[in-house]
Amino acid sequence: MRNTTQLQWGVTIAAAQTEGAHDQGGKGASIWDTFTTNPRVIKDRSNAQVATDFYHRYQEDIDLAVTIGLKIFRFSVAWSRILPTGTGAVNPEGIAFYNRVIDYCLSVGITPWITTYHWDLPQALQDIGGWRNRAVVTHYQTYITILRTHFADRVKNWILVNEAIVCIGAGYFLGIHAPGKRGITNFSASIHHLLLAQAKGFKILKAVEGLTVGTAISCTKIDAYRDNSRDQKAVKRMDALMNRLCIEPYLGMGYPSEIPTITRHIQKFVKEGDLEEMQIDFDFWGIQTYAREVVKSAWYVPYLGVMTVPPRKRNVAVSVMGWETYPQGTRYFAERFAAYDPDKPLWLSECGMALAEDEDDQLRVNYYQQVLAEAEKILEKGIKLQGILLWTLVDNFEWAEGYIPKFGIISLNQKTLERKMKKTAYWLKNYLAATNN
Ligand code: NOJ
Repeated sequence: MRNTTQLQWGVTIAAAQTEGAHDQGGKGASIWDTFTTNPRVIKDRSNAQVATDFYHRYQEDIDLAVTIGLKIFRFSVAWSRILPTGTGAVNPEGIAFYNRVIDYCLSVGITPWITTYHWDLPQALQDIGGWRNRAVVTHYQTYITILRTHFADRVKNWILVNEAIVCIGAGYFLGIHAPGKRGITNFSASIHHLLLAQAKGFKILKAVEGLTVGTAISCTKIDAYRDNSRDQKAVKRMDALMNRLCIEPYLGMGYPSEIPTITRHIQKFVKEGDLEEMQIDFDFWGIQTYAREVVKSAWYVPYLGVMTVPPRKRNVAVSVMGWETYPQGTRYFAERFAAYDPDKPLWLSECGMALAEDEDDQLRVNYYQQVLAEAEKILEKGIKLQGILLWTLVDNFEWAEGYIPKFGIISLNQKTLERKMKKTAYWLKNYLAATNN
């Protein structure tokens, strides 16, 4: 039986949250560059024009990851750095930048993983409707083919889309993330097109022998507020939307029937052959779980008939994100994925906790210790958990929350951009050295 000392440890970062250099190196604007030109959409009125300046400081960050003992460096590629106008000419400086990152990783003995899409669509593609427009599926295929051509010789592990439901839910339904669109039609078209694009992208990458290609799924444990059947049914609906919609079409199960109002809208954008095309066999599932939501039935809420009951109203402690931190979710979801297919490898492709500036980092250490305890139980059950990628290395731009939540195991001085290892980084370094993994 495997145990936690055999887990592989790494870290995940994302271009739009770290790179900065928003208009350097030939990069075109992304939807996040545009979205943040209105400072009111970000809690601390910030933007990611500089972020952690990973674009210039990638060596320092990769060195830090190596010093801690991490073995995997998962980063995302900014589409608009590769294709500044979304289509057409490839930007050689963009290719050169990611080549530098990949080659540096390899030279210092850490394995690079690529995420192809972590929410930063080129603005030029948003100008033609973004994910709402089916043409973007074709543009994504072109983009993936370019990434394959340039990087697949050295990068063997790929994650196509990061958290499709959050990307489209927040960006095209609630309007709180870029591109700030709202409504059921924007949501339905965009989610289908993104999921379809992912299936097509998968086939493009799998045409190269030896690549391991997966996806990263946002997972939120949903519980009922009251012990009655109406709230239980509300749980089923919310769960279908949050935790199944972006998985089951790939398994040949179609869009979940428990949310008929939403799936009816989605169906309007499903063309003949799409669902067959979407049946792909990912090499692994990436689980990303942070919080738990408690919900109640609410007939007046359109489409879903569900309301969340915020943790504050339940007298539950919340993190600076306003989330009920829930490390138990790791095991809960590992078991659910194993129920789909017990042989499929699983990763915690993101895993972390946000603290406020003045909170003791010991809380994060405790959190990771709880995750480790969960991982141990997951492995005891024979579930194929491969490893844990931390979210994240250096405190960064947390989307609409700006720089307020600190998810890093390394702090960032926003003026000097100086990095400093936190308690969690030292704890992990000792743990990894002691366990030799
Ligand atoms: C999920 C996302 O992939 C990442 O971009 C985000 O910063 C973290 N979760 C924390 O919210």
